[in-house]
Amino acid sequence: MSNKHNQQKLSSARFSESTDSFVEAFTASIQFDQRMYRQDIQGSLAHAKMLTKVGILNEGELQDIIEGLQQIQDEIEAGEFSWSIQQEDIHMNIEARLTHLIGITGKKLHTGRSRNDQVATDIRLYIRDEIDVILSELKRLQEGLIELASREADTIMPGFTHLQTAQPVTFGHHMLAWFEMIKRDVERLQDCRKRVNTLPLGSAALAGTTYPIDREFTAGLLGFERITENSLDGVSDRDFAIEFTAFAATLMMHLSRFSEELVLWSSAQFQFIDLPDRFCTGSSIMPQKKNPDVPELVRGKTGRVYGHLMSLLTLMKSQPLAYNKDNQEDKEPLFDTVDTVRGSLRAFADMIPAIIVQKEMTYEAAKRGFSTATDLADYLVGKGLAFRDSHEVVGLAVAHGIQTGQDLSEMSLETLQGFCDKITEDVFDVLTLEGSVAARDHLGGTAPNQVRAAVERAKAYLMSL
Ligand code: ARG
Repeated sequence: MSNKHNQQKLSSARFSESTDSFVEAFTASIQFDQRMYRQDIQGSLAHAKMLTKVGILNEGELQDIIEGLQQIQDEIEAGEFSWSIQQEDIHMNIEARLTHLIGITGKKLHTGRSRNDQVATDIRLYIRDEIDVILSELKRLQEGLIELASREADTIMPGFTHLQTAQPVTFGHHMLAWFEMIKRDVERLQDCRKRVNTLPLGSAALAGTTYPIDREFTAGLLGFERITENSLDGVSDRDFAIEFTAFAATLMMHLSRFSEELVLWSSAQFQFIDLPDRFCTGSSIMPQKKNPDVPELVRGKTGRVYGHLMSLLTLMKSQPLAYNKDNQEDKEPLFDTVDTVRGSLRAFADMIPAIIVQKEMTYEAAKRGFSTATDLADYLVGKGLAFRDSHEVVGLAVAHGIQTGQDLSEMSLETLQGFCDKITEDVFDVLTLEGSVAARDHLGGTAPNQVRAAVERAKAYLMSL
């Protein structure tokens, strides 16, 4: 873990004894924050350019820093960089190596900044990069949902309340419900990105710096839209990480609900869908098994993201201004949130358009459970009954159906007229599943027409992203 250039310990001059080796390891973050090496280098490059612009570094020094940092990035990417616990974190590891490579100029890089504003900048750059990857995965999932919805716009399935058959719906309509949820997740993430995209560098340790820094210039180089306006807040704010994790927890909650449906629907009891084999695994003992592992795992992984949100909220709770070492604990929950969300989204975006819908099974299931009972009640209202009375009449018809094992659409006209003499031959138009879904023909309704219109709107929305 250590090498020559990393031997000298940070802040050693003030100390009369060296740090206990356990404490050194306990307080280090290099084991996990090395993940932010690119952002750390990117931030340092911008800072060095700014220092040169305001006359603190000269062009030759800047050139040395640029080349040194480039070499360090190459070493890290080639797996040749030796990380040192003694150098505590990503910031000190890189600075120590830079100083080893270019000498005293390496030590000048930290002029006008502190690790406190440096780490706050690195995390923001890191989350911003990840947000952009996650947004593109969310888009891919939305495209998959639209594809499946448009393919299954006419496919009839039972819609449920209380997981009991309620009314027939179209499969496409059901998929577009997922589309809407993901769309809100996208909006939440886009909104979070605005606050992430704010530059804290220049806050220095907590109070700002005595050097004539140009924060607008640094912000421009790093693509930050805004600059933090209070140095104490700039170094201690982790709201943006909490917001990101709250977005992630909500997304995972949605994916867990979706997963639950996929698990149910692919079971022998439902048989609504087939998940392609490549998304499933077998059992080591039961040869017939094909397990929906991907949705099950996504459902299960939701828990750890909720946990990370709770960790970050609790981490920040009661912290006095400004920076505290507690904040080092923000990274692991954040990184695991990113990994979990990216993995789950990738699996879903690949899997959704590959789902095979068993249309006969969904149709048969919709026929069971008197799913057109509400249609009959609405029909009777059309014939002049008050809704409560028609509800009563249909209740009697359903009770009869349960006794005789018949669906409403399978009863004779005479039988139906026995419950209400206003019923005529045209009742069968509304008792069919096709009639039932087609009749819900308004914005937001389940009619195949509406599904197709919603697919068009969804495509236009994706184009605008
Ligand atoms: N590794 C630290 C963190 O992740 C960097 C900031 C250290 N600042 C300090 N004053 N010790 O938060």
